[in-house]
Amino acid sequence: MSMIEMIKNKARADIKRIVLPEGDEPRTITAAATLKSESLAAPILIGDIDAINSKASEIGVDISGIEVIDPLKSDRKGDYASTLYELRKAKGVTEEDAVKLVADPMYFGIMMVKTGDADGLVSGAVHTTGDMLRPALQIIKTKPGMKCVSSSFLMDCPNKDLGENGLLVYADCVVMPCPTAEELASIAVAAAETAKTLCQIEEPRVAMLSFSTKGSAKHELVSKVQEATRLAHELAPDLLLDGEMQFDAALVPEVGASKAPGSAVAGRANVLVFPDLQAGNIGYKITQRLGGADCFAVLQGLAKPCNDLSRGCSAEDIVNTVAMTAVQAQG
Ligand code: ACO
Repeated sequence: MSMIEMIKNKARADIKRIVLPEGDEPRTITAAATLKSESLAAPILIGDIDAINSKASEIGVDISGIEVIDPLKSDRKGDYASTLYELRKAKGVTEEDAVKLVADPMYFGIMMVKTGDADGLVSGAVHTTGDMLRPALQIIKTKPGMKCVSSSFLMDCPNKDLGENGLLVYADCVVMPCPTAEELASIAVAAAETAKTLCQIEEPRVAMLSFSTKGSAKHELVSKVQEATRLAHELAPDLLLDGEMQFDAALVPEVGASKAPGSAVAGRANVLVFPDLQAGNIGYKITQRLGGADCFAVLQGLAKPCNDLSRGCSAEDIVNTVAMTAVQAQG
């Protein structure tokens, strides 16, 4: 069974309420109907009810039984505005600003998740990554104990000798452009958690990647990864984590054995932590385009799950991302 099928099965076992703020967007409407008919989640479409209904009939999608909420008409808008004002007044948000902000479907959806009216949110078919991430970072905030919000890419590779039967978790490929050593350590711990929760990998083995293995090169960038490795051990003493190491030392048993003898991770890593966003983003795209891996992105470290889509996404991508969000919401 593919990784995404495993995730869908898990989502079905405990249905979660997932908000889709881009409610009148055709791929989102199509995805909502699939989510409902396949019992993957209880989707909630946000937007103008007439616009959503008319778009659904125009594209021939049946959305009967799917909850649709118009932020302008919702009886929760007042509560959301006062909660938002309380949360953000120290940052200069006025009561008037808060009322305007919750009229925006994205902020309204984030407030639904914040207040527990929904379990998670998926957006980004129309909005940019930054537009989706900013309100989530400002309002949902990081999970207790996490230094920062970051992302993992779940890579389902055709070569089943790699990682965990072909599954690899890559972090961070979306959020943190230049993580500090502390942030990198937090990303490593979050990625191991993602491997357990979403990929059902019982024993995450985390490699902290660099262009050096165990001191083979000396540079301040290498020192940062070494420091992150030390801090990650402090944060999660029981986690199998090692570094710094090169990509091949992490994945190829013979290279791992020769460059990092005795390591419990080298040559058999299933979670790869990249030293910065340029490496992570380029790395996942190489694996996808040259390695033929299927890849699925999730945010990690948020107090409640919110996930971003690519603007080029298909309805199927939205369904998959909602299923992953629902599983994250299960905890
Ligand atoms: N974790 C937790 N909180 C954060 C984080 C983080 N990683 N980043 C920012 N914040 C918080 C800040 O502390 C701040 O909180 P406050 O307002 O309560 O003080 C709030 O979020 C806003 O912070 P800013 O620094 O003003 O946020 P900004 O809008 O400048 O940047 C963003 C945040 C959007 C995440 C930025 O880091 C970014 O653009 N990252 C890269 C996104 C991207 O383009 N990725 C690649 C493409 S996606 C792909 O290829 C699949």
